[in-house]
Amino acid sequence: MKIGTPKEVYEGEARVAMTPESAQALQKLGYDCAIETGAGALAGFTDAAYEEAGVEVVKTAAALWKDCDIIAKVRVPNDTEMKRLREGQTLISFFNPAGNEKGLEAAKKKGANVIAMEMVPRISRAQKMDALSSMANIAGYRAVIEAGNNYGRFFTGQITAAGKVPPAKVLVVGAGVAGLAAIGAATSLGAITYAFDVRPEVAEQVESMGAEFVYLDFEEEQEDGASTGGYASVSSPEFREAQLAKFRELAPDMDIVITTALIPNREAPELWTEDMVKSMKRGSVIVDLAAEKGGNCKLTVADEKIETENGVIIIGYTDFPSRMAAQASSLYATNIRHMMTDLTPEKDGKIVHNMEDDVIRGATVTHDHEITWPPPPPKVQAIAAQKKEKPKELTPEEKREQEIAAFKAQTKQQVTLLAIGAALVLGVGLIPGMPASFMQHFIVFVLSVFVGFQVIWGVAHSLHTPLMAVTNAISSIIILGALIQIGSSSMLITLLAALGIFMAAINIFGGFLVTRRMLAMFQKS
Ligand code: NAI
Repeated sequence: MKIGTPKEVYEGEARVAMTPESAQALQKLGYDCAIETGAGALAGFTDAAYEEAGVEVVKTAAALWKDCDIIAKVRVPNDTEMKRLREGQTLISFFNPAGNEKGLEAAKKKGANVIAMEMVPRISRAQKMDALSSMANIAGYRAVIEAGNNYGRFFTGQITAAGKVPPAKVLVVGAGVAGLAAIGAATSLGAITYAFDVRPEVAEQVESMGAEFVYLDFEEEQEDGASTGGYASVSSPEFREAQLAKFRELAPDMDIVITTALIPNREAPELWTEDMVKSMKRGSVIVDLAAEKGGNCKLTVADEKIETENGVIIIGYTDFPSRMAAQASSLYATNIRHMMTDLTPEKDGKIVHNMEDDVIRGATVTHDHEITWPPPPPKVQAIAAQKKEKPKELTPEEKREQEIAAFKAQTKQQVTLLAIGAALVLGVGLIPGMPASFMQHFIVFVLSVFVGFQVIWGVAHSLHTPLMAVTNAISSIIILGALIQIGSSSMLITLLAALGIFMAAINIFGGFLVTRRMLAMFQKS
């Protein structure tokens, strides 16, 4: 089968759904690839680069649509493109099924199979196909860069000969994919970053990235996330009031506010009100990523940058991924490539549209002359929605019983290990002619295995890798033997000893280096 990518027709769109690199991967799946001439130009991919990757460059969009069995593109197809769609063709693209009834009807009538990239469910297995996440990640990063470009000061604090510069204070509202990317970018630039989200479970992620989570003095039970596909559910009016009060308190102090709060298929909630904007300092910047859905700040004008009377800049661009077209195209093309891998189980260049597969079913909006949107909820729980089981409250007697049972199990395990060790030593000792010195070393070896096992058993799983690395470094005691031998009169022994010292040194320094890096991941800055 042939997969083709036309040039995007949406005005200003610079992304492309196939890159030379993704085309090579698609060819490995057995597909022929085609691209409309100039389709990758705005993202920095020339026709020559595609040709070199074995892609056929087609002169017109009409020819490409006619010739290909599968069309991969970025933006929702326009009327002309929908007219080109034909029976049995597969279209993989953003499709906005919730607001594109006309498109759904047209695709159904034509008998085309449409896979809407925004419908990929947020489950672990589908992460590599999750185009919404990869685009939101770019938008979050770019929002910070855009804010920095419009904010006339440094992000990081500095003490210079010309005076002290305080660090910028950044508030990120909504710590989903875009929010977390924005937090990462802002903290790495040195800003003091605060973040808020209605889902308290993200607090740990926020804090591990070096930002401060803004807590509210308010308790609210969230709806089971599995039913909402890993997204937040609507919060109560009381919660909203508490949230707004907190934001009012923070507003005068913030230099940059990045809002990303959204609940899918709803208008963006108004979270940054006019009075908050008025209380901000002159020169502060708001980047409203939710601009496309009405904005988290009602003063936001979609696709524009405005300045309020009190000198606050509000950016409402809705095309951040397109503003980083090379990166966005690479990630989007990889998402499509993974989707194609799922659709091609035999890697023989033939699509198997398996509607039993959670991911394919979830993303398919028309199939076989039927509208298949909205999909049933995925069978697998959403990633962000896995509820922690509350531990059952135990009575003191039950607790004591549990402790005794654990102690008994541990003792049994230790006795078994000791018995095995003793049997082993006895067995080896019974071998005739075994030298006494060997037996001494062997007993020490068996005991160290026992002690080592007992020590490692008690260490948390997440710390096993640093522990292994550090024991690796310590075990390089071997270096002592090599040091003793290096002065030998035999050239061969000296060489071997030098090699031994070199290898052991790599082990020691590498081991400690890896341990340091791993432990740094557990430290909160
Ligand atoms: P997401 O669903 O991963 O994150 C949204 C976050 O907002 C969630 O963590 C949710 O819990 C939180 N949230 C919902 N209601 C809230 C409230 N009342 N207060 C605080 N937090 C709340 O979404 P994602 O993928 O991070 O996208 C974020 C926004 O960025 C969306 O509006 C999306 O349309 C937009 N976006 C904008 C682009 C642009 O170029 N402007 C490009 C890509 C995405």
